[in-house]
This record gives sequence, structure tokens and C-alpha cells, in this order.
Amino acid sequence: MFLTTDERQQISRLFAFLLEGEKLAFDCASKQASLFSDMASRKFLLNQARQEKFHYRVFQSGVGILTPRGISNIPGLKQVRQYRCLLEESLDRGDRQESLLGMQIMLEGLGDVAVNHISAGFEYRNVGAMCRRVRHLILGQEDAHHSFGLARFDALLENQPIPDRLQQRSQDYLELLESLVYSLSDLFHYFDENSADYLNEFQAGLPDWISVQHT
Ligand SMILES: [Fe+2]
Ligand SMILES: [Fe+2]
Repeated sequence: MFLTTDERQQISRLFAFLLEGEKLAFDCASKQASLFSDMASRKFLLNQARQEKFHYRVFQSGVGILTPRGISNIPGLKQVRQYRCLLEESLDRGDRQESLLGMQIMLEGLGDVAVNHISAGFEYRNVGAMCRRVRHLILGQEDAHHSFGLARFDALLENQPIPDRLQQRSQDYLELLESLVYSLSDLFHYFDENSADYLNEFQAGLPDWISVQHT
């Protein structure tokens, strides 16, 4: 595998951005574990936190190998910080439903799309064939986190309509995620990807009640 200095910088910027998402997912799942009283959910969330820490370390190692002198100009940090604020507010209120919405359903829904594209891009360029197993492992784990969020959210609803506060909140999360994806436009362009395609794919995978709200 040969990468030019520029390719190393750009992949490293992407990894450094993903790292922030993994850190947020770790913090969130760790706190969520204490909000759920049933053993199965607690166990899943503690396991998720452990997996997010592993993902964090994978991307951290990638950044260290690709750019040993460090990296600047990491995209999306402002949006990740804002997203973290919203999510932490819900965790501080002990709002299990909103935390599942913000993390497992929405952020990890987008993460799923992103990791799938990145993995496909790596296959296409024949970059990092050695770490194929790790990529597939992460993909499978992220899929499971997203599915858990959808199932647990529905179970908490108990067939009631979606509360207004969650309807409104979903739009706040959606807006931030859109802004996040567009802040990565130069990276997308570099890797021949398209921000709008990501968003369309992400929105198509969301529960209908979120898409319907979006204009
Ligand atoms: Fe993760
Ligand atoms: Fe995850």
C-alpha cells in the first residue's frame, strides 16, 4: 500500500474526526447504562461502551501511523461539540428515549452510512486490505448499536404516539447532522464522495416520523 503525503493527511483528518464521534459514543453509552434498570439493556450498553473505546483506539492508531507529527484542521469539531451538548442535556435529565434518539438512532445511523462508504472506498482503492477484518468487525458492531436503539426506543414508547418534545428534538439533531456532513464537504470531495448522497441515504434509513418532519 502506497499513500502520498497528501492522502495520508486527508485520511488522517477523516480518522481524527471519526475519533471524536467514537469518544462521544463511548461517553454516552457509559452514562446510558446507568439510566436503564433492566439487565439486558445495561449489559448491551456497557458492551457498547467497551466497543466504542476499541473503535476510538483503532482510529487513534490510524492517526498516529498516518501522521506521526500530528494533525490540524480537523473538520466537524464545532458540530460534534454542539451535538454533545444536546445529548448531554438529555442524559442529565435522565431522558432515555431522547438519548437513544440522539445517539443510537440518529448519530449512529449516520455513522453506519459513513463507515459503510469508507469501507467500500478502502476496498475500491485496495487500501488497507490487512485491516479488512477490523473494518467488518466495526461495521457489524455499529449496526447492532443502531438496531438496539431502534428496538429499545419503540419498547419505551409502548405504542403511544411520539411525544412532541421528541419530534422537535429530532429536528434539532437532524439540523446539526446536516451541518456536520456539509462541514466535511472538502473531505468528501477529495474521496470522490458526495455530501448530499450521504444525507439522502441517512435520511432514508431513519424512522418515518423523523423524515416526515423534515422539510
Ligand atoms: Fe463506534
Ligand atoms: Fe456505535
